[in-house]
Amino acid sequence: MAIFSARLFFFFPILFGHGIFELEASHHIYQTLQNLDEFASATSQPHRTGYHFQPPKNWMNDPNGPMIYKGIYHLFYQYNPKGAVWGNIVWAHSTSRDLVNWTPQKVAIYPSQPSDIDGAWSGSATIFPDGTPAMLFTGINPTGQQVQNLAMPKNPSDPYLLEWVKSPKNPVMAPTPENQINASSFRDPTTAWLGADGRWKVVIGSRINRKGLAYLYRSKDFVYWIKAKTLLHSAEDTGMWECVDFFPVSVNSSVGVDMLSILGPNVKYVFKASLDDTKHDYYTVGEYDPVKDVYTPDEGSVDGDSGLRYDYGKFYASKSFFDSAKNRMILWGWINESSSVSDDIKKGWSGIQAIPRVIWLDKSGKQLLQWPIKEIEMLRTNAVHLPRKVLQGGSVLEVPRVTAAQADVEITFKVSHFRKAEGLDPSWTNPQLLCSQKGASVRGSLGPFGLLVFASKGMQEYTSVFFRIFKGQNKYVVLMCSDQSRSSLNPDNDKTTYGAFVDVDPVHEHLSLRSLIDHSVVESFGGQGKSCMTARVYPILAINEDAHLHAFNNGSKSVTITRLSAWSMKKANIN
Ligand SMILES: *[C@@H]1O[C@H](CO)[C@@H](O)[C@H](O)[C@H]1NC(C)=O
Ligand SMILES: *[C@@H]1O[C@H](CO)[C@@H](O)[C@H](O)[C@H]1NC(C)=O
Ligand SMILES: *[C@@H]1O[C@H](CO)[C@@H](O)[C@H](O)[C@H]1NC(C)=O
Ligand SMILES: *[C@@H]1O[C@H](CO)[C@@H](O)[C@H](O)[C@H]1NC(C)=O
Repeated sequence: MAIFSARLFFFFPILFGHGIFELEASHHIYQTLQNLDEFASATSQPHRTGYHFQPPKNWMNDPNGPMIYKGIYHLFYQYNPKGAVWGNIVWAHSTSRDLVNWTPQKVAIYPSQPSDIDGAWSGSATIFPDGTPAMLFTGINPTGQQVQNLAMPKNPSDPYLLEWVKSPKNPVMAPTPENQINASSFRDPTTAWLGADGRWKVVIGSRINRKGLAYLYRSKDFVYWIKAKTLLHSAEDTGMWECVDFFPVSVNSSVGVDMLSILGPNVKYVFKASLDDTKHDYYTVGEYDPVKDVYTPDEGSVDGDSGLRYDYGKFYASKSFFDSAKNRMILWGWINESSSVSDDIKKGWSGIQAIPRVIWLDKSGKQLLQWPIKEIEMLRTNAVHLPRKVLQGGSVLEVPRVTAAQADVEITFKVSHFRKAEGLDPSWTNPQLLCSQKGASVRGSLGPFGLLVFASKGMQEYTSVFFRIFKGQNKYVVLMCSDQSRSSLNPDNDKTTYGAFVDVDPVHEHLSLRSLIDHSVVESFGGQGKSCMTARVYPILAINEDAHLHAFNNGSKSVTITRLSAWSMKKANIN
């Protein structure tokens, strides 16, 4: 369904507020910034990633409008063409056939209309029933208001979708005195969905004072949008909701569900908000009433900081999309730097994207599971499989023959000696705080045990990702930590320790950990993807060939490694 003709757009010249450019609707004003030869390669830097997506230089933040179109995966992202700090934001664009190797394309969306002249901010793709994509995104108008805009591909027969044209009706949603929307807190439209009533629905994040809001809009033609009287969802004391996301999940299968094919009895819903206050992505699992257009989290599924997070380290402004080629829901998320701004300027870049994760509902129905896309395994090479081994308390086991600065490792532990587990003090409810008080060097009984990544030869530097097991009221409690306190001799990095509880029963299940290690990032998946934790670290000694990988156990009781497989990872074309 081509809702409006792209030809409409060719005739309106627009005067930039700055009076610098006069723009024809064809997109050429940032031509110099689109010249990829101008990207000075920073490839010899030790902290640039080998297989995590990042542009050759400059600032990147939120993933935008991810989708698959005519067999090509698209990623757009918030990008500053002029430097390594936030500013001058445009939608940069890359395409891929496998979600691993990426080809940079020219900038897709940049300020060109009054409704986005001061910024082309985040948004989402919607695929119409006839297969045509549309993009809704936030623009900043000359009075600084946040408004929502529509763009369509100029040539839908081009699988690369290089040219985008904006609707002359923009903005298609805006704050007004009547609707009482806070004009500086109204952004990041979701993917829209088509209701059985024939109307499109879309959600936009906002706030009133400390209350986080998800405004719902409806439209018959995708151009003329009306704000609903009711909110899709809201929650007290959560602050501004950025990059809200809303999608169905199957209750009994890991297969993804397309928003357009919803409404089965075997479907639940996930609502995610990126909390501006804490810079983490939180989600709940619940029910959606498609008549009232209201979402209600299940009992026990809590909004905000005491609820569940996609990732307990660095992972923000995430966005999901339904991969119709492989029937799975895929999650993209931005991983910010932990280096100082002056170091970012020195290295000339800031921000990477997490490896895309497949997400589905755990069989408990209470939380999501996340796992790196299968395709990333195409980069695995030189497999190292170590035999089953008892790891005595206080010991370290080096994983040999692996490029430890660019690796994928899976380790599984079997624990016994449960009677010796430390008691869990009922006041220890904050796992991150507990991890920071009980880092890798604080010896326990059952744990800490796990991996030492980016370790220097003399152990002056290492990042530890590990478990501890405590005896709770009527079950054993598993804590997962990522301890960055000794990750680098550079004192200028944010070395906050991250922590989460993992909902596994260590008596009956083995405890697994997978880490994707890539020069300055370690993405860890505990309990087969039940708790995820991403850290940025910038070792000075443990770089390239000088990085080492170990398993370790700093508890007093032994644990058994039942599986340890590690792979050197090949480089991907990451742009
Ligand atoms: C509107 O949003 C701005 C920017 O986040 C915030 O400073 C202000 O407090 C908000 N006003 C209300 C009433 O929430
Ligand atoms: C999920 O359960 C429903 C009934 O409860 C059934 O009809 C459907 O086939 C199941 N799907 C899978 C993938 O098991
Ligand atoms: C980015 O990193 C800095 C330093 O670690 C941190 O203070 C800030 O909250 C982070 N922002 C996001 C969006 O993750
Ligand atoms: C294990 O604990 C000891 C004693 O606190 C400490 O010296 C050592 O650094 C720890 N090992 C690791 C890998 O943190």
